[in-house]
Amino acid sequence: MQYKRILLKLSGESLMGNKQFGIDADMVMQYAEEIKKAVEAGVQVAVVIGGGNIFRGIQATANGIDRVQGDYMGMLATVINSMALQSGLEKLGVYTRLLSAIEMKEIAEPFIKRRAVRHLEKGRVVIFGAGTGNPYFTTDTAAALRATEIEADVILKGTRVDGIYDADPEKNPEAKKFAKLTFDEALSKKLNVMDLTAFTLCRENKLPIIVFDMNKNGNLAKVLAGDAIGTIVNA
Ligand code: GTP
Repeated sequence: MQYKRILLKLSGESLMGNKQFGIDADMVMQYAEEIKKAVEAGVQVAVVIGGGNIFRGIQATANGIDRVQGDYMGMLATVINSMALQSGLEKLGVYTRLLSAIEMKEIAEPFIKRRAVRHLEKGRVVIFGAGTGNPYFTTDTAAALRATEIEADVILKGTRVDGIYDADPEKNPEAKKFAKLTFDEALSKKLNVMDLTAFTLCRENKLPIIVFDMNKNGNLAKVLAGDAIGTIVNA
C-alpha cells in the first residue's frame, strides 16, 4: 500500500444515494465495505463526513437562520452521519471510535489527538464528528486540520466526480481532467479543490490531496495501492 495512514473525507450529500434527503442505508454499507477493505489491507483509516444531506449551514443562513447557529446545526448533522457510518462499519465487524469536536459524551468520545492516534495504531477506524467544533469552518477544513494533527499521509476526498477538471464536468462535456497538480497550479487556475482555509492548511503542511470517485466499487483500494485514478494535488 502506498499510504499507511489516511484521512478519508466523504460528502454528506453522497450518503443520500438516490434519495432527496437523509441517509440511504445502501450507501452507508457501500462506504463501510470500501473502508473495511482498506483496514484489512493494513491502512490506518480516519474519516470526516459532511452533513449536507441533513442540513447546510450556509443555505440556512440565506433562509434567515443565524450563521453561527446554522453552522452548529450543520456540525450536529455530521455527527448523525458519523453515527450511521459507525453503525455500518460495526455491522461488518470493523472496530471504530467516534470522536466529536463538540462534547456529547453519551454518543462519542471527546476529540483528543493522542487518543485518536492510539485508536488508529490499534487498527480502529476513527471517525471525527462535529467538524472543527467551530462555526465558519467547513468539513473540508475539519478534514485538513484533523489530517494534519494525526499526521496522515494524505487526504482522500471521495466525491461523485472522478477528479479535478478545468471546468465542471457535469455541465461541460469538454472539461479536461488533471492527473496531477501542484498546490500553486490549483490555486492559480482557481480550481476550488477545497475552500481556501482547508486548501491553505494542506499546502502549508505539504499534505497531498487526492480527489477521486468514491462511489465506484474498489476505487478506494485502487487509490491506496497507488493507481493513478482521480487527481493528486501535492507540493
Ligand atoms: P484503549 O485505551 O486503546 O483500549 O481504547 P478504548 O477506546 O478501548 O478504551 P476505553 O476504555 O477508553 O473505551 C472503551 C469504550 O468506551 C470505547 O468504545 C470508547 O469509544 C468508549 N468511550 C470512551 N470514552 C468515552 C466517552 O467519553 N463517551 C462515550 N460515549 N464513549 C466513550
